[in-house]
Amino acid sequence: MKISVIGCGYLGAVHAACMAKLGHEVVGVDVDDRKIASLTRGEAPFFEPGLPEILDEAMASGRLTFTTDLSEVAGAAVHFVCVGTPQKQGEFAADLTYVDAAFSSLLAHLAPGDVVVGKSTVPVGTAERLAADLEPTGATLVWNPEFLREGFAVKDTLHPDRVVYGIPESDAGQRAAALLDEVYAAPLAEGTPRIVTDYATAQLVKVAANSFLATKISFINAMAELCEATGADVTALADAIGHDARIGRRFLNAGLGFGGGCLPKDIRAFMARAGELGVDQALSFLREVDAINLRRRVRMVDLAREECGGSIVGRRVAVLGAAFKPNSDDIRDSPALNVAEQMHLQGAVVTVTDPEAVTNAKEKAPHLHYADTLEAAVEGAELVLLLTEWEQYVSLDPDYLAGLVADKRILDGRNVLDPARWRDAGWTYRALGRH
Ligand SMILES: NC(=O)c1ccc[n+]([C@@H]2O[C@H](COP(=O)([O-])OP(=O)(O)OC[C@H]3O[C@@H](n4cnc5c(N)ncnc54)[C@H](O)[C@@H]3O)[C@@H](O)[C@H]2O)c1
Repeated sequence: MKISVIGCGYLGAVHAACMAKLGHEVVGVDVDDRKIASLTRGEAPFFEPGLPEILDEAMASGRLTFTTDLSEVAGAAVHFVCVGTPQKQGEFAADLTYVDAAFSSLLAHLAPGDVVVGKSTVPVGTAERLAADLEPTGATLVWNPEFLREGFAVKDTLHPDRVVYGIPESDAGQRAAALLDEVYAAPLAEGTPRIVTDYATAQLVKVAANSFLATKISFINAMAELCEATGADVTALADAIGHDARIGRRFLNAGLGFGGGCLPKDIRAFMARAGELGVDQALSFLREVDAINLRRRVRMVDLAREECGGSIVGRRVAVLGAAFKPNSDDIRDSPALNVAEQMHLQGAVVTVTDPEAVTNAKEKAPHLHYADTLEAAVEGAELVLLLTEWEQYVSLDPDYLAGLVADKRILDGRNVLDPARWRDAGWTYRALGRH
């Protein structure tokens, strides 16, 4: 089937490549010339495990092309809209400028019977409005929220844990769902659960899922605050409560909290939308979830100050990790980079390293020092902060690192190191929520 993908960022580029892998003929469109030039060369414009291989394969098959010219979407039966929905400057609400622009420019290229599939995360009510705009073209809108995780995006796209279609109550809605079933024939044949519902539910599923995950992380981080006040150990606590199958151990890792281009802005946009709908009280707990999350970043800097004897001014600090999570180069609302910046603002001499995210971090925070290797970052450091749990940092050898730093002090912002091992090697080890 001929498919178009509008918006080729972290979501759209992976989606386009994966749809070609599934056998469809795909044209990916973006307004960013540099991104399209890179994709046209078969090069992933960002780091995502497995994407280069799948891109290579799809480009070689001749089924995948990229362009900045939207008119090339004409003739596609299904158009996926994957543009960004960032937080509005100075507000909690989502900025729908890109979604609105993508839809309005798409109108001229649609034919009756086409299906437009919204994948961007939008405030509930957006799909209903966009569906009305599409009506004169004879195209039908399906809202199909995306749940991929950066770092696992290829696997999550090819083998999703569920697919959700929000469709109108009409024959056209049923036909659109049937067409989308053809697009997703391979994952559906694997038994992927498929939930067909109305627009409002489909839009809410995405933000409800992210709100739940954010709440789970902030819950354990709130427990970490209690552990810090009582001398308890949050990792033992998480293990113990996680054995209860109703609670589960996943997403109960206390530490520096969540970040990235989705969770923080999605819970804020959800709160803003609830306010517009007159049900802000229903989501007032998300304010606390957000506040707990942001407090962890402040606590990390305080811990660093404590470890440096009351002041970080002039102290040489190595920060391991800039990406918001391992296996990604995404630095949007990264807790690691945020802590690095706070430390810098408060007078520390901060050198940041990351296996993949240094280029992006430099662009966002050019005032920090950067090192391409772990060794260069920690050389002469008086304090080491592990802030993104890349495997190469989790498996660090304390004896090896001891030979490079000036002072053997480490703060484990992700609770991933073995405290006994580091202390035995002569390090002062501190972490969030444990002693
Ligand atoms: N990144 C994720 O893990 C993820 C997961 C699920 C859902 N989402 C949602 O997907 C959407 C996209 O997220 P992302 O992380 O890919 O963002 P992104 O910023 O990486 O990509 C968005 C892309 O859209 C392009 N764009 C903007 N306006 C356009 C237009 N009019 N026509 C064509 N292209 C245009 C931008 O140039 C950019 O390349 C957001 O709503 C996000 O919340 C993201």
